[in-house]
Amino acid sequence: MTNIVVLTGAGISAESGLETFRAEDGLWAKHRVEDVATPEGFARDPRLVVDFYNARRAQAAQAQPNPGHMALTDVQNLPGVALSVITQNVDDLHSRAGTDGVIHMHGSLSGALCGACTHRWPAPMVMQPGAPCPKCHSPAARPDIVWFGEMPYEMERIYELLAQADIFAAIGTSGNVYPAAGFVAEANRQGATTIEFNLERSAVGGQFDEQRLGPASVTLTAWLEELRR
Ligand code: OAD
Ligand code: ZN
Repeated sequence: MTNIVVLTGAGISAESGLETFRAEDGLWAKHRVEDVATPEGFARDPRLVVDFYNARRAQAAQAQPNPGHMALTDVQNLPGVALSVITQNVDDLHSRAGTDGVIHMHGSLSGALCGACTHRWPAPMVMQPGAPCPKCHSPAARPDIVWFGEMPYEMERIYELLAQADIFAAIGTSGNVYPAAGFVAEANRQGATTIEFNLERSAVGGQFDEQRLGPASVTLTAWLEELRR
């Protein structure tokens, strides 16, 4: 059995029409991170933050998985391969492409989280700031998104997966945000072969054994064919 662990970022959803964060015309060129992606920003202006994620949710719902997402599902279904997908993306395109067991380390647009009691429930398409928690009734509903300064989800499980990986691949992520940007170093330390799939070398690109440059739809489809042999 070949254990493959992939980490995906906004680049894998770019060909589905979803904006990345750090492109010249990306999300962080139009919105301030401190305003829309921190607990402090939410405390200051919950309406602004909830609207930002409402817009992301609406866009993701219109988008379709692309051949890059599909190729990962096909890799997962190959005999002799165990594929785990860890994503920093908050869209649901991996699961809509049929990939199982996706770990959403930065949370998900489809979830609502109570800031008071940590209860989680499915988010409505349009969340309202100050909506009540169905469990504790505090007016503390927020998107179930991991903001800067908060701890990403499932870190223990992720490090277990990295420890068992034969191959670690980072796909469409710029290597700017930790802890995810540190996974390649951990995978190297644990003896995995490490591959980067990106349009260009990322901020941590020098740490990978191999670079595969190009659109993920093309490079992942080629990788699938190679693993199939
Ligand atoms: P970024 O926007 O930082 O990086 C996207 C990466 O995808 C870049 O390195 C691009 O070169 C690459 N890329 C773009 N199109 C591609 C394509 N068709 N095929 C392959 N690669 C492509 O997005 P992330 O690295 O995902 O966190 O950002 C990480 C985190 O920072 C996000 O989860 C988000 C953000 O701030 C939070 O909001 C907490
Ligand atoms: Zn609650």
